[in-house]
Amino acid sequence: MKKLVLASGNAGKLREFGQLLAPFDFEVLPQSAFAVPEAEEPHITFVENAIAKARHAARLTGLPALADDSGLCVTALGGAPGVFSARYAQSSPDEPKSDQRNNEKLIADLAGIKDRRAHYVAVLVLMRHADDPQPVVTEGEWHGEIIDTPRGEGGFGYDPYVLIPELGKTVAELPHEEKNRRSHRGQALAQLLARLRAGA
Ligand code: IMP
Repeated sequence: MKKLVLASGNAGKLREFGQLLAPFDFEVLPQSAFAVPEAEEPHITFVENAIAKARHAARLTGLPALADDSGLCVTALGGAPGVFSARYAQSSPDEPKSDQRNNEKLIADLAGIKDRRAHYVAVLVLMRHADDPQPVVTEGEWHGEIIDTPRGEGGFGYDPYVLIPELGKTVAELPHEEKNRRSHRGQALAQLLARLRAGA
């Protein structure tokens, strides 16, 4: 099996990617197994951050690397919180991240604004080596509307506030498997698997 390093410390992502990539003869290992410190994410686009993370992990391990970057983009806010989704309400880097405060800020920022369109974005980057000039890059989008009153207990982050109009449910009201099937990450991953199947 070929080793592939995942540029993330998230155990859930490691399990999911590990299962999905096993048929392609990839053994997915966390970057922590190689003592790779978290990469800087200095960019303002998802794709640049995902490339930076994958390149960092590939460079430090000498292995192919997979990275993802994701967030919520609100149309009326010019795409914010975007790449800052995890730390939207943080006023300094030492402040702990908080989904609750991020959601409070989002709702406050949208007060009085009628246009509630928003979409989740996920970008995946698979780099064969650190100097790969043609990494596999895929992107998924999932469109919804921001509501003022949270609904549902599932998911994480902004999910209780993101209504998917055609389902009449927030993302937090969807069963886990349904979210994974429809989500921005699910779509980006399906595209990645299709590219691998096609010989990428
Ligand atoms: P990361 O790409 O895993 O670092 O996620 C970045 C941030 O985007 C998360 O901390 C959440 O705030 C937001 N986000 C990304 N995907 C989702 C999702 O599926 N549900 C809710 N929030 C999300």
